[in-house]
Amino acid sequence: MPFIWDKFYNIGINEIDAQHESFVNLLNRVSETYENMSNSLGNDEVKMKMYLDVLNLRKYAFNHFLTEEKYMISSKYQQYFEHKKQHDAFIKKVFELEEAVINSQEISPQKLINFMLSWLEGHIQKVDKAFGNYYKAMVGVKS
Ligand SMILES: [Fe+2]
Repeated sequence: MPFIWDKFYNIGINEIDAQHESFVNLLNRVSETYENMSNSLGNDEVKMKMYLDVLNLRKYAFNHFLTEEKYMISSKYQQYFEHKKQHDAFIKKVFELEEAVINSQEISPQKLINFMLSWLEGHIQKVDKAFGNYYKAMVGVKS
């Protein structure tokens, strides 16, 4: 069942919200791809599809974190470095997943989906939202 983006998840900065929505689209694409597939990396087709998904996730992460961090720096956000640590940990995890796929280690598509879901719940809906509240108070943007 696809995850539906809701305005409730918006942090109030249009550029960032649009990127977060694209993360959810990516999550849904990944889920759809594997819905009817075997849960193992036993065949090359699953392996290549999974590798492409992880590459797309890396591309998203580099672009999106740069955007978010620019807003943090421009608004002199005191929690910037704490927040950035979470971004860096995400990228590190994506590289680990890439390596695992290349080395055919036992990682299931469900593991990738769970990783993305936990980021959505633990980061986007919490720490990004906290930054959005700060930014709106400091700079003032229409949500
Ligand atoms: Fe963030």
